[in-house]
Amino acid sequence: DKGNHRHFMAKEIHEQPEVVGHTLAYYLDMANDRVRLPKLPFDIASLKHVAISACGTAFYAGLIGKYWFERFARLPVEIDIASEFRYREAPLEPGGLAVFVSQSGETADTLASLRYAAQHGQNILSVVNVPTSTIARESHAVMPTLAGPEIGVASTKAFTCQLAVLASLAVAAGRARGTLSEVDEQRLVAALVAAPGLMAEALKLEPQIEALARNLSKAKDVLYLGRGTSYPLALEGALKLKEISYIHAEGYAAGELKHGPIALIDETMPVIVIAPYDRIFEKTASNMQEVAARGGRIILFTDAKGAEEAGVETEATFVLPDMPATITPFAYAVLIQLLAYHTAVVMGTDVDQPRNLAKSVTVE
Ligand code: M6R
Repeated sequence: DKGNHRHFMAKEIHEQPEVVGHTLAYYLDMANDRVRLPKLPFDIASLKHVAISACGTAFYAGLIGKYWFERFARLPVEIDIASEFRYREAPLEPGGLAVFVSQSGETADTLASLRYAAQHGQNILSVVNVPTSTIARESHAVMPTLAGPEIGVASTKAFTCQLAVLASLAVAAGRARGTLSEVDEQRLVAALVAAPGLMAEALKLEPQIEALARNLSKAKDVLYLGRGTSYPLALEGALKLKEISYIHAEGYAAGELKHGPIALIDETMPVIVIAPYDRIFEKTASNMQEVAARGGRIILFTDAKGAEEAGVETEATFVLPDMPATITPFAYAVLIQLLAYHTAVVMGTDVDQPRNLAKSVTVE
């Protein structure tokens, strides 16, 4: 049932404040701003290494998770696309943690990676949306995302719920390992508790995004840029757009601009910059200036301070409230999803069932 929405994807985008809230409530003690994970069959405090593996959007959630694990828990994380991990014969020290992220829990490459890690003595933890899935069954521990059924082929609410789980786990790991104090934990949990409200704020920008989608639908190629946790979001924004609107899009770490993609910049190519005002904002601002100097069309997702400090003319600037850095991926994800969705609607494509794609990729 799509409710009042034209497509399942629209419904699922709008459900996010609620389902991310449910997922957070499952892992956090919201009244006391503490993490409260279900009991895990291994000791987080003694882990030395984490390997994350997933495909598509779930991989991008894992990539954001890597930034969090490293920052909060000072745990080294390697992350691979599952189709690479399963064949590259990575040496894995026994006793490490291997994390598999999957909405369906049936993705062939992710499952094969899980089996490889299990054979090599890893503790297997999966973040899945379907608790009865094969990946869940073969894991030593399951941290479910409480997104509810996701029908649209383009993953939206599963992605932000995956972020909720990974953030909770990273904070728990930081506490267990002593890299976060109790006060740090409370500050981070309070930030996470605020995420659903900020996602609701992002949804309020929908009319403006819809207006921009008409212009974007005329583009042949679109570039997405971001730094830090906004870099995986740039990748996710590009995937979402190409998957449902069939417009070619690429996501890049903003710092890579001058290592190649800047050659593409001209008046016809929209450059979507995801840049909340943070400690590396100025670096991204100088990338925007490089784009502007070459006549590029900039579409900026930022906050009030970022809009003020950007120092460039943009085609459109979308301003979200200020928020702690930890939760920007939740709110900014909503904007890139809405942009892809409305562009696809203008193009008239089959949003929920894009050509050549299946919801669950059970063959490699
Ligand atoms: O079910 P999974 O999360 O394992 O699926 C992984 C990818 O196939 C999936 O995220 C895919 O990239 C989506 N269509 C993206 O919107």
